Amino acid sequence: MPKVRLGDHEYLLAENESILQGLTRHGVTIPSSCQKGICQTCLMRAIAGTPPAECQEGLSPTQKQQGYFLACSCKPKTDLTIALLDDSARNKMQARITDKTLLSPSIMRLRLQPEKSFDYRAGQFLNLHRPDGLIRSYSIASIPSEPFLELHIERLDNGKMSGWIHDEVTVNTEVEIDGAHGNCFYLEGNPEQPLLLIGTGSGLAPLWGILRDALAHNHQGDIHLFHGSHSRDKLYLGEALRQLARDYPQVHYTPCLSGSEQHGYAHGRANELALAQLGSLKGWRIFLCGHPEMVKNTQMEAFLAGASMQDIYADPFTISAS
Ligand code: FES
Repeated sequence: MPKVRLGDHEYLLAENESILQGLTRHGVTIPSSCQKGICQTCLMRAIAGTPPAECQEGLSPTQKQQGYFLACSCKPKTDLTIALLDDSARNKMQARITDKTLLSPSIMRLRLQPEKSFDYRAGQFLNLHRPDGLIRSYSIASIPSEPFLELHIERLDNGKMSGWIHDEVTVNTEVEIDGAHGNCFYLEGNPEQPLLLIGTGSGLAPLWGILRDALAHNHQGDIHLFHGSHSRDKLYLGEALRQLARDYPQVHYTPCLSGSEQHGYAHGRANELALAQLGSLKGWRIFLCGHPEMVKNTQMEAFLAGASMQDIYADPFTISAS
């Protein structure tokens, strides 16, 4: 069995055990959240030995080269000497909540003022740390030119973090954040390329950022946004999106209700309506955010409709399931 050396101690991993599981079993606390290799909360660094490639998925080439890896998905075959990261390596910092506004009965907009410059691209996500150590990931809805970070937080049944944010947090509360993480963002170049944005519920958050970032970069191609939900209470920012569509002729906004039919809303699932309406997606750039099953199915359907896999970006925001 491989051994992991951390500081002055060596820990033996059990068969098929990740470094996160092994260290936790030995009583060593490592920050973690999703445990699926997505949120990057468990980022560590190998200072001797080579971590397996699969635990470096989603990291930048520089991070990979420097031996960074995700402890929750790292099942080494050989011995490793590893180190915990300090707060500056995680880009962890304090942030003050400056605004808390309900956008719909179940979705809260939080605005935060980080203590120092926080580099991000619209559509990436950050990790929010509650003072007791609970960590959850949220997509960033603001764009870098705005003087705040904005998150849209959906109240989940028994959601520990979302319940705390909806019911207890007040303006001026200090929290910690780290990030930004993720590859779901608008890249400059090819300004005529049509864009398709599909999101469900608070999956609108990164799309709200991506859409406005594309416009800020003078994107000229058509931008179709389909926002879906079973009920109207999770279709928020409708008036702001209609206004964008009035101001920019290339923007097309379709709110979709999969529950009962209602005036002013397309009836059906957002992904199905988008694919039926647009037909061939050859040459399109696509952003998918929301329910994991919708994202997975739509990735495949968009590919079958002609989109290149390299042009399909998916946001993993639903990892914050509780
Ligand atoms: S806990 Fe390891 S990536 Fe989320």
